[in-house]
Amino acid sequence: TRRTRTHHLQEMKTRGERWPMLTAYDHSTAALFEEAGIPVLLVGDSAANVVYGYDTTVPVTTDEMLPLVRGVVRGAPHALVVADLPFGTYEASPQQALETAVRFLKEGQAHAVKLEGGERVAPQIAALTAAGIPVMAHIGFTPQSVNGLGGFRVQGRGDGAEQLVADAIAVQEAGAFAVVMEMVPADIAGQVTRKLTIPTVGIGAGNECDAQVLVWQDMAGYTSGRTARFVKRFGNVGDELRAAAAAYADEVARGTFPGSEHSF
Ligand code: KIV
Ligand code: NA
Repeated sequence: TRRTRTHHLQEMKTRGERWPMLTAYDHSTAALFEEAGIPVLLVGDSAANVVYGYDTTVPVTTDEMLPLVRGVVRGAPHALVVADLPFGTYEASPQQALETAVRFLKEGQAHAVKLEGGERVAPQIAALTAAGIPVMAHIGFTPQSVNGLGGFRVQGRGDGAEQLVADAIAVQEAGAFAVVMEMVPADIAGQVTRKLTIPTVGIGAGNECDAQVLVWQDMAGYTSGRTARFVKRFGNVGDELRAAAAAYADEVARGTFPGSEHSF
């Protein structure tokens, strides 16, 4: 099989086929997700939280993201790998966005980049697209702006619906190949999905988007504790891994591992 390309996603929208996207941050999980049939992998700046342990995505840097991107690309030879541009690396100007995106393609070998914002980043999206860099947009709740948005809040409610639609149209017109919609009411996300010709990717955006995305640790039950309402746990990887580590620790302490069959 060949590598997934942006035009394949466009064709799936035309055919009415839904597709899944997952985050990935390393080689081994990327390989597993590709085997599972995930066509698009996002090296999200959620790495700030799940890889580096920051409270928000604000602190993570390009230098922290690039090694993760390289690992994912090598692990998933058939996936379309999208990398998030970190906060502060593209907002200032189209020139700044281009310099950062080029690093993600050159040094990270990503196939596309994602950035947050609608109308306000349309010039950046246009500049990247003109330079041959596919761009996935991200509107609705945009975590890099958590401090400006007043916390983790549903966007596009009431008067906000008009702005959300305007943002969706702006990113499509600027050349984005797809748009993530995060934490927006399902009916608004459905309206946007029908209005746009490019695929919409929902996270907390109801069931009418063309595609869905989740942070893999949330999807697989790797993280413990409270998760957002929009998360569904499809596994208990965290429990499995903790149990495996505890069993290993126990056998080492008791001296039953390694056995003669593991010895030379
Ligand atoms: O960083 C991330 O993981 C994301 C997705 C959840 C859309 O941006
Ligand atoms: Na992100």
